[in-house]
Amino acid sequence: MRENYLEDYFSFLRFPSVSTDNQFASNVRECAQWVSEKLAAIGLESKVVPTAGHPIVWARNEHRPGSRTVVIYGHYDVQPPDPLELWDSPPFEPVLKEGYVFARGATDNKGQILSHILGVQETMEQDHELPVNLHLVIEGEEEIGSANLGTFLSENREALKCDVAVVSDTGMIARGTPTLSYGLRGVTALEIKVTGPKMDLHSGVFGGAVANPITALAQLLATLHDRVAGFYDRVKPLENWEREAWRKLPVDGDKLVLKETGVPELFGEAGYNSVERIWARPTAEINGIGGGYQGKGTKTVIASHAMAKLTFRLVPEQDGDEILKLAKTHLRKNLPKGVTLEITDGHSGPWYLTDPHSAIGEAAQRALREAFNRDAALIREGGSIPIVSQFRSILGVETLLMGLALPDCRAHSPNENFPLENLEGGIRLNKAILQELAR
Ligand code: BES
Ligand code: ZN
Repeated sequence: MRENYLEDYFSFLRFPSVSTDNQFASNVRECAQWVSEKLAAIGLESKVVPTAGHPIVWARNEHRPGSRTVVIYGHYDVQPPDPLELWDSPPFEPVLKEGYVFARGATDNKGQILSHILGVQETMEQDHELPVNLHLVIEGEEEIGSANLGTFLSENREALKCDVAVVSDTGMIARGTPTLSYGLRGVTALEIKVTGPKMDLHSGVFGGAVANPITALAQLLATLHDRVAGFYDRVKPLENWEREAWRKLPVDGDKLVLKETGVPELFGEAGYNSVERIWARPTAEINGIGGGYQGKGTKTVIASHAMAKLTFRLVPEQDGDEILKLAKTHLRKNLPKGVTLEITDGHSGPWYLTDPHSAIGEAAQRALREAFNRDAALIREGGSIPIVSQFRSILGVETLLMGLALPDCRAHSPNENFPLENLEGGIRLNKAILQELAR
């Protein structure tokens, strides 16, 4: 089977399963169908479950009473590929170059899902059965906040009764270094619109006599980092043992940030190094901004409105709803004169923190060591996987985050890529974790 996995991988990557843009809804559906058929082809019972949004693929083996039950979770949806002109090859036409596959979703999360599927397949081929009761839940809305997956978990709570969740949607700290992530940041999103005049105006005829919404938006956004009142109140300080453990990791976070991003210098909260800023401190980010004339040449205009998309990354013990409320109060209070403000809530997902030394954490570390021949690095992550905290609150289980993304895999960026070496490592890892969890 190994010979043709590249064919499967490429077929999977060719679906433009962009969840955020409804223009791709049928591609998303077709991708779900493909995943489900693939899971059925390896011998699992599989179905595509419709939701209020994009469908969920749910597959299982035949369960035996008394065996451990494991939920493997992943997502088949991807982020938009834009800006297209920055890709060296088209994002949905995968290519293999020097051991790396380039395509949107190559890492996040299709390559990692495929390693789950192939690990399960090889185990079934070798042993004629799996050592655990397995559920595979592959959703199509992770990149937009997993809004309908919680309902799916609640509705199927009994059927999904399990001992642990396993997810490969995080990173490896360095090539060849197996990594167990025991923390994720949360994220909460909102969109704001600042409106001035009832229509776009001639800036000579009215300029100076009305507030410019783009200026007002820029001024408003600039106040965000003067500290939203209450934003840090619940932030748990980093403890010394954790800072020390992170300093011993086989990677220099500051150097890595400089190398991977190409920024002219480091940036961030004083008193913290880069990994501390990314893994343990909250942020306010402006993800998009728009308004006014953006075409060629000039246009002497005062736009009627301007907009921005914001997200806040959250850390223990911040509460998403509370942060949203504080942010809205801050934005309303600091709105410049002469314009009005509209705020629309976006998705929200909590942070996660678990114990890498629990019994299942130790099992994960053994599987990682077996698959990569090295001790696992224990880290937190800056990214978010919204559903993980609901595996805890709805299913009552902890999640093992054993990701395969490399720092230079460019998830969410142009030229996203995944080394076949990690796909292979992921297959070994999946085989090992099934055995370890069965013990
Ligand atoms: N795979 C990422 C999450 C991730 C990235 C975890 C890096 C750890 C390290 C996931 O697909 C993702 O991008 N999640 C979104 C969630 C959001 C849209 C609600 C994120 O973090 O922006
Ligand atoms: Zn992602």
